[in-house]
Amino acid sequence: MSQVFDKKLFQNRLSTRWLGRDFEYLKKVDSTNSYLKKIPAEELNHGFVVLADDQEKGRGQHQKDWVTKPGENLTFTLALKPDRAEGLTLLTLSCALAVANVLQNYSRRPFLLKWPNDIYVDHKKIGGVLTECSFLGPKPEKVLIGIGVNINQEEFNVGSVQQAVSLHQITGEKFKREEILANILNRIEQLYQSWVNREITVHKEISRALIGFGDWIRLSIDNEVIEGRYKFLGVNEKGELLVLNEKLELNTYSHEQIRIITGSESISKVR
Ligand code: BTN
Repeated sequence: MSQVFDKKLFQNRLSTRWLGRDFEYLKKVDSTNSYLKKIPAEELNHGFVVLADDQEKGRGQHQKDWVTKPGENLTFTLALKPDRAEGLTLLTLSCALAVANVLQNYSRRPFLLKWPNDIYVDHKKIGGVLTECSFLGPKPEKVLIGIGVNINQEEFNVGSVQQAVSLHQITGEKFKREEILANILNRIEQLYQSWVNREITVHKEISRALIGFGDWIRLSIDNEVIEGRYKFLGVNEKGELLVLNEKLELNTYSHEQIRIITGSESISKVR
């Protein structure tokens, strides 16, 4: 059932220094990312967060739509102004990791990251991240990190390639979205600081949470499966994929169209 977002409850749970202290709640918008894109960078504070109960044109990666029921999930965007452009992929993955870490407090099922930007549980997608940046020369002017997390929705359309799932569906419980949002922002602020400090724990933790980490996998680029099998070593400090080929040579990939094919999927894709 659709619930109006309780801003006071959210603010009481928030323990960040700067992330989400400047917060806007919208009942309805086209997309929280599109909304922030239209605001000039100089009018946006670092750490500003906008959340909408209903997105009429929610957007996902690769021009896909992000469609969820109003008032049942979390759909929000952070505006960040980091000093460097290097490692933005790692920053996106850090936000996905923060979501996975927080959801892990509500269920014992393992919440994992699917390269490049998804959060999965039980082979189903529970959340995703869409990062969009504008640059002033080499420096990012604003980095918009849009996050969608399925919380209380009871059913999703079947038949999409990535079957969606909500926290409610895997636990049988209903959750306060305000509490989960505050917990996610608390964790993102910690990980952001570690990212700024270039702490190696960031890419190590992300690597450990990635589906297929340590396994022999196959890779595809632009939907074409690449010859051979690769040992998946996770990501480096830039967020690039690290793999060993069958001759045990180290390869790195940053191409955003690259996909990791694991388990039974890897067998069916090469037939
Ligand atoms: C993906 O998995 O493809 C990324 C999904 C990102 C969805 C979020 S919901 C809030 C923000 N606004 C959007 O229009 N998209 C992102």
